[in-house]
Amino acid sequence: MAKTAAPKPLRVGLLGAGMIGATHSAAYLNMPTVKLVGVWDADPARAERLAKPHGAKVFDDRAKLLKEVDAADICLPTTLHLENIKAAAAAGKGVICEKPLGRTLADCDAAIAACKKAKVPLLVGHVVRFFPEYSALRETLLNGKIGEPAMLRLRRVVCAPGPRGAWYWDFAASGGCVFDTAIHDLDWLLWTMGRPKTVYGVGRRDADSLQDLALITITWPEGAIAHLESSWCHDSFATSFEVAGSEGLVEYDMYDSAAVRVAPTGQAAAASGKTVPESPLAKSPYQAELEHFVAVLRGEAQPIITPEEAREAVELALVCLDAVRTRAVIELPAAKNAARKPAAKQAAGKKKAALGARHPE
Ligand SMILES: NC(=O)c1ccc[n+]([C@@H]2O[C@H](COP(=O)([O-])OP(=O)(O)OC[C@H]3O[C@@H](n4cnc5c(N)ncnc54)[C@H](O)[C@@H]3O)[C@@H](O)[C@H]2O)c1
Repeated sequence: MAKTAAPKPLRVGLLGAGMIGATHSAAYLNMPTVKLVGVWDADPARAERLAKPHGAKVFDDRAKLLKEVDAADICLPTTLHLENIKAAAAAGKGVICEKPLGRTLADCDAAIAACKKAKVPLLVGHVVRFFPEYSALRETLLNGKIGEPAMLRLRRVVCAPGPRGAWYWDFAASGGCVFDTAIHDLDWLLWTMGRPKTVYGVGRRDADSLQDLALITITWPEGAIAHLESSWCHDSFATSFEVAGSEGLVEYDMYDSAAVRVAPTGQAAAASGKTVPESPLAKSPYQAELEHFVAVLRGEAQPIITPEEAREAVELALVCLDAVRTRAVIELPAAKNAARKPAAKQAAGKKKAALGARHPE
């Protein structure tokens, strides 16, 4: 029988060769479905470092790179996302963009509109949806295994990202630990619990040392309460969660579960280009995310995240910043276009049917 030819690798151009660009580039090395064609960065040495193992070209002209690819992978500082999404969309290329989608809602709206107008997919890298622990927690809640969720405690702490003077130190550019880093948990909460009702928070920020820290409380109309700890004051990266429901408890701490962990800090992190944790034993969630994006771009999968959902994560992160700044309890306005699926509470009501279908035990 004649063999069906494998589809040609998707030709990807990497825009941005910093920390997360290096993580994506490393993932592409393990993905036969992708050919990294070229890298574009203001710093050619960084671009060269990532291009070399792929035999890819370094481009000093973004337009030229965009001409040669099927998709653009945007790993640039957050305030540059919009301009680069627009350029890729105008060139008719699919877009994979790191989170947050934009620093403002106006940027998010313009990015979404540009991709809609050009009829190109826009996929945003909310990678926590691809961490097995966090997707397992979501499944546990949606299947009603611990009843109605009552209290969700999520922690995500890391050292100050980037060397002194990097764009992360400019609050207007990065939004600090809440906007840049806790947005992962905010997206997961929106994805799993639906749209919250209120947000309250306290925090502090020392711009000179980039010591940035916040404790945020979020409530849902059904009664659940989440407590987020977000910090850029720690030595190294750490995440954990604890979720209590009417019928049980789920707990996770990355320091308890990884058999082998690699998490360089300080100078070593700068040298390796990594402040995200990795395990040499497990498939990188970044690779799983990029594989999913490739499948979506090829029409083989429905996107796990829509651009509107990525916008809603930005909206919630901005509300959290307002709450921390004003020390007021902020009520979220009604959803712009009620894009959210039912929250865990409603899913818990369907527990028996769902469990019967998915867990025959
Ligand atoms: N999903 C995740 O876990 C995760 C982790 C880290 C960062 N991020 C996001 O990824 C994005 C990039 O973050 P990073 O940590 O890689 O930043 P970084 O500072 O390490 O890298 C940014 C790169 O962009 C280049 N650059 C800056 N301005 C440029 C310009 N005008 N033209 C061309 N190149 C330019 C820099 O030279 C640098 O190489 C941010 O939006 C950040 O929030 C996501």
